[in-house]
Amino acid sequence: MNKQIILCVDDEKIVLESLRSELEGKFEEPYALEFAESGDEALEVIADLIADGDQLALIVTDYLMPGLKGDEILTNIYKNHPDSRQIMLTGQANLEGIANAINNAKLYRYISKPWEKSDLLLTIREAIKSYQQEHQLKEHQTILENTVKLRTSELENALENLQNSQEQLLVSEKMAVLGGLVAGVAHEINTPVGVGVTAASHLEARIREVQQLYQDDELTQEAYEEFLADAVEGSQIILRNLQTAANLVSSFKLVAVDQSSEAMRTFKLKEYINAILSSLQPELKQTRIRIEVDCPDDLALNSYPGDFSQIFTNLIINSVAHGFNQGTEAGNITIQIRIDGNNVVIRYTDDGKGIPANIIPKVFDPFFTTNRQAGRSGLGMHIIYNIITQKLQGSITCEDTASKGALFVIRVPTAIGQ
Ligand SMILES: Nc1ncnc2c1ncn2[C@@H]1O[C@H](COP(=O)(O)OP(=O)(O)OP(=O)(O)O)[C@@H](O)[C@H]1O
Ligand SMILES: [Mg+2]
Repeated sequence: MNKQIILCVDDEKIVLESLRSELEGKFEEPYALEFAESGDEALEVIADLIADGDQLALIVTDYLMPGLKGDEILTNIYKNHPDSRQIMLTGQANLEGIANAINNAKLYRYISKPWEKSDLLLTIREAIKSYQQEHQLKEHQTILENTVKLRTSELENALENLQNSQEQLLVSEKMAVLGGLVAGVAHEINTPVGVGVTAASHLEARIREVQQLYQDDELTQEAYEEFLADAVEGSQIILRNLQTAANLVSSFKLVAVDQSSEAMRTFKLKEYINAILSSLQPELKQTRIRIEVDCPDDLALNSYPGDFSQIFTNLIINSVAHGFNQGTEAGNITIQIRIDGNNVVIRYTDDGKGIPANIIPKVFDPFFTTNRQAGRSGLGMHIIYNIITQKLQGSITCEDTASKGALFVIRVPTAIGQ
């Protein structure tokens, strides 16, 4: 086991001997005594014991010696062993030496020569106790610091793992949505294309029939008129279904959010919303719906205006279509916009039928519609959701109003990329 050394330094052999006889056998392991007759020898002894892996717990040194004086030895030792306790023995009251040892070293006590045996022993015991306590405290501190370091690195690892799995989850969610979307598109397009194919093959068969009758010179006027009526109806069916399929394809293209190459720019939101409302006038004119915009006049956004147009158009068309029975009912839409720190918060409300609580979790799903018979595809809210969360770096929620109209809350940054 490494030793804790108590080093006594005095140039007078007699003094050193009496120190030896008074102290020997008084300190248990790991404490051990060492003696030196000069400052230089003391420094050598210390160098040796450090080389052996021992520690200097306490130095008891004379003040007046040839060569290095007591205060100089202590100052020197303090630099390399700041924890060691220091006691100085002074022959005469030498205030200067004591002051030096206090100011430049770490003098624990000074004892006047000749000393009382019991005083010396008590002082040394106290010095060692204080050294021991500080030593233990430091050890605990090191253990504690190491434990904290270990825990911190464990936590950092756990956090990194968590972030990785979150990213993976996001990617796989996106893939799942995309997969669902593709399957949905295939399913949706299947119906109009299937109907179109049936109508086209029926038409083709009818044409062949008439062609045959004509070649055989058996085509009556009645048969020809019947064929014409069939042909008109057939081509209408084909046209209508091709149109539906084409609409689906163009909505589907919009779902891929970054389709537009529109540049980001600064624009005044209120002016822009008013422009959107004017462009919707042809649809809105046929309804009894009033739209109120409550937005600070000078609120400017640095974002993608085209996307705001898409968002408000889809929301308003939804209110007309789903909230107010295709606009035949009277009603109100309110668009309230407020700034909240670096974000704008848009509250879009209508006082129509509202969205039942059990439907709210599905409104943003692709192909969810309550109105398929009217030719709706259920992509409008999904497109809005993608634009807001991906491109505009914001969020949208559909709130439960207990069927007192629809309420959507949108939160987007006033400037993208901040
Ligand atoms: N303002 C609203 N009032 C009542 N219901 C609404 C409103 N907005 C959306 N919904 C409900 O949410 C569903 C999903 O809306 P979404 O816009 O995605 O599809 P859609 O309007 O049915 O079809 P599409 O927009 O593709 O023509 C609607 O079918 C409707 O049930
Ligand atoms: Mg819609």
